[in-house]
Amino acid sequence: MRKKLILLYITTELLTIIDGVQYPWTFDNDLFGGPDFWGLLHGDWRMCTAGQMQSPVNIDPSQLLYDPHLMPINIEGNIVEAVFENTGQLPVVTIKDLPNKPTINITGGPTMPYRYNLHQISVHFGRADEGEKGSEHTVDRVRFPAEIQLLAYNSALYPNFSVAMTSPRGLLAVSVIVDIGKTTAVELRRLTVASQSITYKGQSTNLTDFQPSALLPKTSHYVTYEGSLTYPGCHETVTWVILNNPIYITNDDLQIWNELQKTETKQPEPSYMTPAYRPLKSLNGRLLRTNINVGSKESAASSSCPSNIYVEMGYRANPGRNKRNDSVSRRYVRKSEVFEIENIRPDEISKIGSY
Ligand SMILES: *[C@@H]1O[C@H](CO)[C@@H](O)[C@H](O)[C@H]1NC(C)=O
Ligand SMILES: *[C@@H]1O[C@H](CO)[C@@H](O)[C@H](O)[C@H]1NC(C)=O
Ligand SMILES: *[C@@H]1O[C@H](CO)[C@@H](O)[C@H](O)[C@H]1NC(C)=O
Ligand SMILES: *[C@@H]1O[C@H](CO)[C@@H](O)[C@H](O)[C@H]1NC(C)=O
Repeated sequence: MRKKLILLYITTELLTIIDGVQYPWTFDNDLFGGPDFWGLLHGDWRMCTAGQMQSPVNIDPSQLLYDPHLMPINIEGNIVEAVFENTGQLPVVTIKDLPNKPTINITGGPTMPYRYNLHQISVHFGRADEGEKGSEHTVDRVRFPAEIQLLAYNSALYPNFSVAMTSPRGLLAVSVIVDIGKTTAVELRRLTVASQSITYKGQSTNLTDFQPSALLPKTSHYVTYEGSLTYPGCHETVTWVILNNPIYITNDDLQIWNELQKTETKQPEPSYMTPAYRPLKSLNGRLLRTNINVGSKESAASSSCPSNIYVEMGYRANPGRNKRNDSVSRRYVRKSEVFEIENIRPDEISKIGSY
């Protein structure tokens, strides 16, 4: 604690001394410039500390609210040209906005009736060789090996990503959880290979014929909430959509991402990019809505008031967990049972509803 207070003091001093110089931020909280300090590093990044609707958050299945009006989200399957860059903090794909070239419209979903335009894709991960998981969002406090985030801007209202980023209803983020599997999803495999040519900060490579929609799992189910960017300036302009099913990567392929480094050149002591995720932020009463309806509480009360009695909403992101027994350690739930509800049969759903 004392150490942090001293650092805070130094930060304030630095800001007054080197006015206008941007101090490099990092995801590593042990370092000056880590997530706890983002809000102090730069005037435009205040929200990182002051904001109360920040991301990422934990998705607690028992808090989900079923919303039958949430439409499926449509992400066009176009093939685009993009540049893949090591920013020193994250590997980021930016879709090129070229005249006469396709872009990717995203429509439907919780941000209807606005239309969004896919702008960038970032990959978050931990040190796989040390068993560290690196997804930003967690489900029932379970963190996953990695998370891919597709960030789009509201093209119905704003001319580009940078203007939308700081404007109301500006951004839409579609999050894809990545879990360990026997094979790597084809488009993720391509990114994994390409990441080997951007080992150092500032390096980039062109991706021709890149198909972002191939990174999506086959599901129309999602959870949505209002939050922020998970990197500075943490603007609270983001509608998040967390898709319900993961895509897969092999353990070997996941380890390739660990080679990415923060430095511009090879150092005697490598400075790895991991951890590459922001710590969880508090939900502070925000709604977690979902279009997954796996059971509503049918009771005498609800027949006289049929509107929205989804108190016992039976979302089973984690069917292995008994609702009555929260003491069951969540860590021991088989991985395949977390974040999969496709295989729940309708008769099981009614059982869930009757707990
Ligand atoms: C995206 O939407 C806009 C407006 O509806 C349309 O003009 C454009 O052609 C769409 N892009 C593609 C690739 O379909
Ligand atoms: C975004 O649009 C604004 C307003 O039209 C413009 O000033 C700015 O330069 C644009 N930014 C980028 C990165 O194109
Ligand atoms: C990537 O494409 C841009 C044009 O969009 C080009 O200027 C640049 O040289 C290309 N980079 C590589 C490494 O091929
Ligand atoms: C809850 O689960 C724990 C661990 O499996 C078990 O020991 C305990 O008896 C269970 N409690 C109830 C009320 O079922």
